[in-house]
Amino acid sequence: MPALLHIDSSPRQGSVSSRLAGRFTEEWKRRNPDGRVIFHNTSHERIPYVDEEMIAAYSAPTGLLSETQKKVLAYSDRLVDELLAADVVVLGVPMWNLGVPASFKAWIDLVVREGRTFAFTAQGVRGLLSPGKKVYIFSACGGIYPEATPAKSLDLLEPYLRAILGAIGLTDITFVRAENQSSSPKAAAEGFARAETALTELFA
Ligand SMILES: Cc1cc2nc3c(=O)[nH]c(=O)nc-3n(C[C@H](O)[C@H](O)[C@H](O)COP(=O)(O)O)c2cc1C
Repeated sequence: MPALLHIDSSPRQGSVSSRLAGRFTEEWKRRNPDGRVIFHNTSHERIPYVDEEMIAAYSAPTGLLSETQKKVLAYSDRLVDELLAADVVVLGVPMWNLGVPASFKAWIDLVVREGRTFAFTAQGVRGLLSPGKKVYIFSACGGIYPEATPAKSLDLLEPYLRAILGAIGLTDITFVRAENQSSSPKAAAEGFARAETALTELFA
């Protein structure tokens, strides 16, 4: 049974990134009626931040873990298991202050785990996830960050996500971006239409 993991991270009802990601998942479900979908919205869940206790928990013997450490470790394990089990990963990510929302970063901090999703080797970091997993990222932003312009260097979202997901072995990444969403209604609609076209082409 194919599995899709869908993570949204916008708290907004009218979220553009969630709308695009949701359309992808709906179409995938239509094509994979026996498929399994796991869904989270990181902004609606109180994903714990990694603190000193949590860092210690990663290397402590199971018998010495406090109740809190056991709970947070189990939470992280569950998120990692979901990622390991997924054939397709769909991420809805708004650009916030040039990067990803803090709640989404909290998810990243719990799934990028030494020994579970990456390993340190003599050659550096090696991702442990199957490179066969496909990742589709639907991002929305207020401005525009065109290639080969100074503005592009301000877009830290796409390079960050490609780098951190690549570090755990997820290298087959497709980005669909809805830009200009804080601009005039016309520019926002055009930005959304371009993203919709790109989304449709994914299933062509
Ligand atoms: C806290 C916050 C920070 C934002 N920072 C940026 C930014 O740095 N660059 C940008 O282009 N748009 C920025 N925006 C605009 C959002 O990216 C835009 O509204 C987008 O549509 C949000 O995605 P969503 O529709 O999925 O919620 C920001 C919006 C918020 C609420």
